[in-house]
Amino acid sequence: MKTISLAVLLCLAISSIAFADDTAFKKGEEVFNRNCAKCHGEKGSGTDKGPPLIHKIYHPNHHSDLSFRWAVERGARSHHWRFGDMPKIDGVSKEDTEKIIIYVRTLQKEAGIF
Ligand code: HEC
Repeated sequence: MKTISLAVLLCLAISSIAFADDTAFKKGEEVFNRNCAKCHGEKGSGTDKGPPLIHKIYHPNHHSDLSFRWAVERGARSHHWRFGDMPKIDGVSKEDTEKIIIYVRTLQKEAGIF
């Protein structure tokens, strides 16, 4: 009996973690679409104004989560591509940036980048 209730508890705990992640992903997608997609494209696929983020250049070993925080807060100097500099993006909170990171990393994973 004890084992069963423990198993039930464990399932509940796991599903609530999965749910929290799903919410962060959705929020990340929303903030991304509003602030980043005009240059980085729908689902980070790139446009003529900015590079795709779902790309091996942005693998977490090459561009850590910190590089995302910095890009949003300070902008990024053009160095990998010829789109010009990325301006800093106003109006995206630190919490929202973390959700964008979850969103982009999830898409990268789905695309087999890591
Ligand atoms: C006005 C266009 C524009 C917008 C809007 C924009 N970016 Fe960028 N971003 C760029 C360009 C161009 C580069 C490429 C710079 C280069 O040549 O390496 C870039 C590079 C980056 C990089 C890589 C930085 C590095 O260290 O190399 C990250 C991460 C990034 N963008 C995230 C974001 C996120 C997240 C948002 C939304 C909050 C966003 N960008 C909005 C144009 C944009």
